[in-house]
Amino acid sequence: MHKQNNVVWHSHRAEQSSRAKQKGQKPLLIWFTGLSASGKSTLAGALEQSLVERNYHTYLLDGDNVRHGLCQDLGFSDQDRAENIRRVGEVARLMVDAGLITLAAFISPFRADRQTVRDLLPEGQFVEVFVDASVELCQQRDPKGLYAKALRGEIKDYTGVDSPYEKPQSPEVHIDANRLSVAESVQQILFYLHEIKALHGGYQFLSQDG
Ligand code: ADX
Repeated sequence: MHKQNNVVWHSHRAEQSSRAKQKGQKPLLIWFTGLSASGKSTLAGALEQSLVERNYHTYLLDGDNVRHGLCQDLGFSDQDRAENIRRVGEVARLMVDAGLITLAAFISPFRADRQTVRDLLPEGQFVEVFVDASVELCQQRDPKGLYAKALRGEIKDYTGVDSPYEKPQSPEVHIDANRLSVAESVQQILFYLHEIKALHGGYQFLSQDG
């Protein structure tokens, strides 16, 4: 995989800090992990919407979409999932370096792969959000009918059926997705972002739009 032995890193003069300053924000990678149908994409989309309304510069990377392009050659073996997350991590790192608040919604079932992404980012710029919905709830929702197919044995290596999900041990934000609405979950994340001083404006400002 490492074929670039004769390529030397080129340092450019504009830095993350000047790009971030231009945008008036603290760049971050907000990484949503959880089972398929846990609500990651919906929640990431709703959070992005609410950040855009507050004039932040954002970009959302979504598993189902990325797998149509950048990662269309990858399947769902452990190895392919690791490569999926590695690529997305690198892309997200570039986006954060560009000064964006980047959101990523991927099952990312393996702790080691999520740690690899965390390690790519400068200290404090990786926010792991665990969208914690029970496998029973996800199977019940099953919006794409994929759990049903996996349970019938028509799809192999399905997360939560015959492929593992390793829960985060100390995520920055732990969403109780069995109980919270999307709006409440967005508030919980905004509150965390406010606490780490990643948002301009005070908590008063946040608590007004319920
Ligand atoms: S990851 O494991 O590599 O992080 P990713 O988030 O990109 O997964 O893609 C997950 C989406 O692919 C699911 O929401 C589901 O729609 C679809 N999918 C298809 N096959 C599988 C499978 N075997 N396991 C999990 N998701 C699958």
